[in-house]
Amino acid sequence: MERIIALSMLSADFGNLNKDIEMVNQSEADWFHLDIMDGVFVPNISFGFPVVKAIFSKTNKPLDAHLMIIEPEKYLARFAEAGVQYLSFHYEATKDPQSVIDSIHECGMKAGMAIKPATDISVLEPFVKSLDYILVMSVEPGYSGQKFMPLALERAKAVKKMIESINPKCLLQMDGGISTLNVDDVEAAGVDVIVAASAVFNSSNPDATISTLKHKRSL
Ligand code: DX5
Ligand code: ZN
Repeated sequence: MERIIALSMLSADFGNLNKDIEMVNQSEADWFHLDIMDGVFVPNISFGFPVVKAIFSKTNKPLDAHLMIIEPEKYLARFAEAGVQYLSFHYEATKDPQSVIDSIHECGMKAGMAIKPATDISVLEPFVKSLDYILVMSVEPGYSGQKFMPLALERAKAVKKMIESINPKCLLQMDGGISTLNVDDVEAAGVDVIVAASAVFNSSNPDATISTLKHKRSL
């Protein structure tokens, strides 16, 4: 399967968002990855519905929202209305993950579950059969531009095995510290969906960096 590039807008220029949306539209990126932070589940606050809607109105690419908020169940329908197609929430952020998954599906979206680096991967097992994707974090959620945690590769391999034995259609996503230097290792660990922010937006040629992330394969 061809890898999917989900471009995180967290490092975009919000004073000139149109330009960065257009850059992503013209690029080989597959999805927009929108990091939603509430200042409670993570120490940072990012952006909300008006920004999601604005991006939706300017692209034909799918929107993948990564909720880093407590009580995600309160806001699912509003993300669907804002144009989100792929919605992930954190296992650690809710008391009833299965009902969140079911509600995401009832709203017509694909459901993803994210886990922080310290969360045991075994918590995923009961939910794999009903998930469309699993997000294994390779940094502590909250900020772009952090250093990749190599332990995430072993975790991804183990999660991929779980996915293959329970629900092979479920995609595996990884997020945090991914660049052109480690993207092949990430894919080799079984990751289908690659998230990247700073590697692209801090590069001198974002469009070319996206192409490299999409195609690079070491021998
Ligand atoms: C971190 C976010 C990431 C972040 C990735 O909490 O979930 O999506 O934007 O940024 P980089 O690619 O710079 O690590
Ligand atoms: Zn993210």
